[in-house]
Amino acid sequence: MAPVRTTTIGCGYLGATHAACMAELGYDVLGVEVDPDKLAMLREGRAPVYEAGLDEMLARHVASGRLRFTDSYEEAGAFGEIHFLCLGTPQRSDGLGADTSQVEYAVRTLAPHLTGSPLVVGKSTVPVGTAARMAALLTELTPSGVEAELAWNPEFLREAHGVDDTLRPDRLVFGVRSDAAEKRLREFYAPVIDLGVNGATPVVVTDYATAELVKVTANSFLATKISFINAVAEVCEVAGADVVALADAIGYDDRIGRKMLGAGVGFGGGCLPKDLRAFQHRAGELGVEDVMSLLGEVDAINAHQRERTVQIAKGMLGRSLRGARIAVWGAAFKPGTDDVRDSPALAIAGQLHLRGAQVTVFDPKAGRTARAAYPTMSYAEGAVEACRDADLVLHMTEWPEFREVDVDRVTEVVAHRRLLDGRNVLDLQAWRNAGWTARGLGRL
Ligand code: UGA
Repeated sequence: MAPVRTTTIGCGYLGATHAACMAELGYDVLGVEVDPDKLAMLREGRAPVYEAGLDEMLARHVASGRLRFTDSYEEAGAFGEIHFLCLGTPQRSDGLGADTSQVEYAVRTLAPHLTGSPLVVGKSTVPVGTAARMAALLTELTPSGVEAELAWNPEFLREAHGVDDTLRPDRLVFGVRSDAAEKRLREFYAPVIDLGVNGATPVVVTDYATAELVKVTANSFLATKISFINAVAEVCEVAGADVVALADAIGYDDRIGRKMLGAGVGFGGGCLPKDLRAFQHRAGELGVEDVMSLLGEVDAINAHQRERTVQIAKGMLGRSLRGARIAVWGAAFKPGTDDVRDSPALAIAGQLHLRGAQVTVFDPKAGRTARAAYPTMSYAEGAVEACRDADLVLHMTEWPEFREVDVDRVTEVVAHRRLLDGRNVLDLQAWRNAGWTARGLGRL
């Protein structure tokens, strides 16, 4: 039997990863990307973002011909039996909720070109109610004689683990309106279901609204865990306690779990902050804002970590920020990516720079994207080099190489031995042994 022909509409981070992984599973894949620069890169088998393993997988399947890219919706409509919508839903420029215009544009543009009995599957993170709207649009715009159906299948992949999370997810969620759609998704994802880490991957079959909400509530819950531990970190500081040991201890309770209890400078990226705000906004539109006011607190605690870090840096310097030389280790919102969207590291570096400090940033992968976002700061080519003549070193993104840095080499180049570990992963004692004043967040 010929492999299923599938399309990925939108080949940013999510779409490029999905497309490569579906080719890896043996499907014939056509990716649709309208940005000419991204399209050119993808056609050469290069990912538009840095993600371990993705370039290699894209290149392999582009070379074999199993994975192709186009900017033509017409071609996609003629080709695909199952179409995945992988478009971005960024925060709206007025700050109110998520902007679903790219998803809507894709449905409007694809629908008139659909052929056969296609299944259109939404993967984007959307405000609840969007899928029902898209299903109505699809019905309205699909040519007569074509039986198109919509399903919603949210994606839970984490940047830096995208390939593995796509091929071996914790669970699959199918928001469907018919048994036929469920059956097609089960068949399509059969290799993923079989690859489950502990037996078959669980599949939750549900309605559109639940599927949409699963995604935003999962991200909001993860954000809540982080803000909770960051609030506790401040209590630890004034009480003389250690938040890392505390998180270990409560994390052993498997009702709580240790993951996402890393206290530090807070969460960033293109998902957690945006989804939290969009969910709160949508709850307000639905008339239940009050019950979700908790999410506003989660966001506020997160924003507070950034200003708090700036104040701690100032306190450690013991002088005004103006003219102080500060080395910032890390620019990406987390290690393993070059994504600097809403990055705590860069936001803090930017604030220090704005308040007159001479900031030098080093990130192993995100130097280019950071420079594009904050061109007026200085950038170094290495961790030690960033620290030359520094009065203070800030560890803001926990790339493994910062843990492995040679303390003596850093000691030789700095003006003052002061270190703030904003991710609570460095061996502070080793730094103190070399004569440094070293501190974390929420630990002494
Ligand atoms: C997040 C979710 O974890 C994924 O499940 C989801 O699919 C994805 O959003 C999405 O919606 O697309 P991601 O944004 O890649 O994934 O990053 P996370 O690993 O969740 O980290 C988010 C932020 O929280 C980072 O800034 C990280 O440094 C911070 N974080 C994470 C902490 O401050 N403490 C922790 O213990 C863990």
